[in-house]
Amino acid sequence: MNSGDVSTRRLIDSFGRVHNNLRISVTDRCNIRCFYCMPADNVEFMPKENLLSFEEIERVVRIGTTLGIDRVRLTGGEPLVRRDLHVLVRKLAAIPGIIDIGLTTNGILLEEQAQELRDAGLKRLNISLDALDPEIFRKVTRREGYERVLAGIQAARDVGFSPIKLNAVSVRGLTEDQIIPFGKLARETDTVVRFIEFMPLDADSQWQRDKVLFAHEIMARLEAEFGALRAIDSPVSTIVHAGATTTSLLAQAHVATHAPAQDYEFADGKGRIGLIASVSQPFCSSCNRFRLTADGRLRNCLFSHDETDIKQFLRSDSADELIAQAMLSSIAAKKEGHEINTARFIQPDRPMYSIGG
Ligand code: 5AD
Ligand code: SF4
Repeated sequence: MNSGDVSTRRLIDSFGRVHNNLRISVTDRCNIRCFYCMPADNVEFMPKENLLSFEEIERVVRIGTTLGIDRVRLTGGEPLVRRDLHVLVRKLAAIPGIIDIGLTTNGILLEEQAQELRDAGLKRLNISLDALDPEIFRKVTRREGYERVLAGIQAARDVGFSPIKLNAVSVRGLTEDQIIPFGKLARETDTVVRFIEFMPLDADSQWQRDKVLFAHEIMARLEAEFGALRAIDSPVSTIVHAGATTTSLLAQAHVATHAPAQDYEFADGKGRIGLIASVSQPFCSSCNRFRLTADGRLRNCLFSHDETDIKQFLRSDSADELIAQAMLSSIAAKKEGHEINTARFIQPDRPMYSIGG
């Protein structure tokens, strides 16, 4: 284990990946029930006393900054169901060394909270919305709330979040019809729509490869309707087309960036979209993400089968150094990548809502 000078230690794994991005789940509770994440009913939530307090989260982030963490993102469940989340945002924004705070929300409670979150120092906001058609929204989320999300998006715009980024999970047989309307939205407004391939993290273990609507298929549909797409922020500037070429260009593009989304703009300059090809083109080789669950466990990967409990240290008077060591060890043990595309793949026990997206 690295026992060098405290100030020079970094969260570097055995594949040389440097981790500066901590995703913090603040609750496993949620006000809707997306089928790719939660069971429809009878969800077993963590006992409230197991959730880290804002002070405990703040301490973990402070320690993380001594190891090179400089970006955090708050996730859930649905982070906005955690009362007074803006108080946590303010605490994290005040930590020296934190340069970026993001939030991923389903948007249902955003209208009420957008202003206070912005005032507290939230920089980036991703809103999950899988369908622009209310009927399909209901099918995916198994709850009402479509209008609330639209109101939340508008509120986010009104208080100055820009651009608005939408996350749309794409599922074969369910959301194909939404691709073109989302493309239109991206072209007509200041909205970046990021299409995400459906990953095997659903509570009911219903994921099947044939339900994954692949990034290159989404791209082909968009290009057929709106013309060519051009990759942004990557060495790939060629205009890309569907099929094998697209796939290999997506692969190259991912080597160049830490962001899981490869961004594209339409060749006529109108509109921007992102493709997150988590299944067909994993971005594991450039992953810089580390995770803290709401109940105080470190996870070095969404698909990890091991985690490190640091709640026990936070609640037992342990020194910061012990927590720093736990972080270093967790990252040191990180595997090369997920194995979704192999016969060895085993879905993790924790579904998405309990890991934090
Ligand atoms: N596959 C892909 N994306 C998912 N999300 C949640 N579960 C899955 C899944 N099984 C997305 C949410 C949200 C982000 C945190 O992760 O829609 O946008
Ligand atoms: Fe809630 Fe997000 Fe899971 Fe949907 S994906 S059920 S919004 S936690």
